[in-house]
Amino acid sequence: MGNRLSGKSAIVTGGNRGIGRAIAERLADEEATVIVGDLFDERPAPVSSVERLAFMPLDVTKEASVRTFVDAVLQKFGRIDVLVNNAGIVIHKSIDEQTIEDWDRLMAVNLRGPFLMAKYVVPEMRRIGSGTIVNIGSVEGYMVNPWHTAYAATKAGVHGLTLGLAVDLGPDGVRCNTVCPGWIETDLNRAYVELHPDRSLVERELAQLHPLGRIGSPKEIANTVLWLASDESNFVSGEMIAVDGARTKKISLPSILDEEYRAKLKKA
Ligand SMILES: NC(=O)c1ccc[n+]([C@@H]2O[C@H](COP(=O)([O-])OP(=O)(O)OC[C@H]3O[C@@H](n4cnc5c(N)ncnc54)[C@H](O)[C@@H]3O)[C@@H](O)[C@H]2O)c1
Repeated sequence: MGNRLSGKSAIVTGGNRGIGRAIAERLADEEATVIVGDLFDERPAPVSSVERLAFMPLDVTKEASVRTFVDAVLQKFGRIDVLVNNAGIVIHKSIDEQTIEDWDRLMAVNLRGPFLMAKYVVPEMRRIGSGTIVNIGSVEGYMVNPWHTAYAATKAGVHGLTLGLAVDLGPDGVRCNTVCPGWIETDLNRAYVELHPDRSLVERELAQLHPLGRIGSPKEIANTVLWLASDESNFVSGEMIAVDGARTKKISLPSILDEEYRAKLKKA
């Protein structure tokens, strides 16, 4: 708890659960007024900062919904200092199974959404002469899990959007960065883990992929978003920051060889 965002208003899309929910609560803990926009109105369980969390319906894929949401936020809260583009979906399919509807839906939520939100929020940030946009991209913007071609394309798109916004909006005092989560425990990837009957085996193997020896939590993403949203990162713009326990820095070895090698080192 602190006051790093005191007097600021922040929008978090897709903030009803998972990573978005942790971000909304973390920003509110630092005294921001946080407006969560999501598809359905699922109020969060009480947290210390709950009086600073507001909920409004939003479908980031629809221009009319985004316009109405941003107008309502401005009418009620008077300003927007921080935009967190977090809402996202994933579809696991091979390219030949993928339908045009799947492709368009992924693009609409994961890429059109951040574009529309920025389009309607940026005039307000220009008016106040400052602002920070934090996108939630993914390590899958530069590496890919199997059957994620379309998802990875949307996240690489978000990374490109970040570069463009940072360059175009810098002269207006507006920064744009992207946090790229690794494997974070949420509903989004639970279905993936549950594909296998032995959940604890999957969890052990997942942990082994990470030099830090575990997967991440929504709160760990929220802490990085907070830093990017605050004045502490004032000269940082156009960056993609991986929060992934160094998973993407590790070149894979067959796990049995990896284990043998570690055992040998221990004995020596
Ligand atoms: N969980 C991970 O391991 C992981 C890894 C990398 C990136 N990410 C990214 O993090 C973000 C959050 O993921 P999560 O794991 O918390 O997912 P989640 O499924 O738990 O939550 C996503 C939220 O987005 C909302 N949402 C979906 N479509 C929407 C729309 N059209 N308009 C408004 N809200 C909408 C949902 O209602 C939900 O509340 C996503 O962008 C995801 O791609 C997650």
